[in-house]
Amino acid sequence: MRLVLLGAPGAGKGTLAKQLSTALGVVHISTGDIFREEVAAGSELGRKAKAYMDRGELVPDEVVIGMVKQRLARPDCKPGFILDGFPRTVPQAEALDAFLQAQQMPLDAVLDIEVPEEVVVRRLSGRRVCRTCGAIYHVDNKPPKQEGICDLDQGELYQREDDQPEAIRRRLRVYAEATAPLADYYRQQGLLRPVDGTGSPEEVLALALRLLKG
Ligand code: AP5
Repeated sequence: MRLVLLGAPGAGKGTLAKQLSTALGVVHISTGDIFREEVAAGSELGRKAKAYMDRGELVPDEVVIGMVKQRLARPDCKPGFILDGFPRTVPQAEALDAFLQAQQMPLDAVLDIEVPEEVVVRRLSGRRVCRTCGAIYHVDNKPPKQEGICDLDQGELYQREDDQPEAIRRRLRVYAEATAPLADYYRQQGLLRPVDGTGSPEEVLALALRLLKG
């Protein structure tokens, strides 16, 4: 199964993608996670991306597109993949279409996770992430057993730089301007499946699986 997850920052793309990856047995590719790993490793790509990310702006298309094509060419993507955070602009979507067409690997569906803005802001403000395994928590909705420590590998939980109020506001603006138009782009292709993202993570997963089977 080849899927794209759309949705505002904090809509729950990463949370749903991790669950779907386990349920469907396909790899989860998050461009945000790849950039954060590159930043942590201090690579050239990481240095380029960091300034944009911290401000809540998009990394330039040419940088992201090349990186995603390389990732999709790896053998673990043959059985399928879940793209989380890509595409985010119409040029990225067009580049993805051209690449997948050349590989004869068309998308099966695009899940658009719909959550009102006030919920998204609450989710982002309370999010904590494991520095080692990337597991996602929330101080109220999904607290770890021990404060500040990951349940899975005891890694340190941290708050992302771009989860500060000013960066959240900018990310939401950038989403409305650059990414929201992708819903129309994929609706025209008959691929768009809106998902109500306001329920619990388990409810959202069940909805998504039902849509993918239907
Ligand atoms: P990225 O990491 O992709 O950030 P994002 O799109 O802003 O999305 P988030 O990771 O913030 O949210 P999410 O929807 O995954 O929500 P999550 O599941 O964590 O990108 C970061 C930056 O990298 C960008 O700003 C940009 O600079 C750059 N970048 C990345 N891709 C790019 C691209 N293609 N082009 C250009 N630049 C790019 O959930 C959020 C919180 O809510 C968590 O605490 C979670 O526990 C909680 N939660 C989730 N689901 C539920 C639920 N159902 N009920 C209750 N709580 C929930």
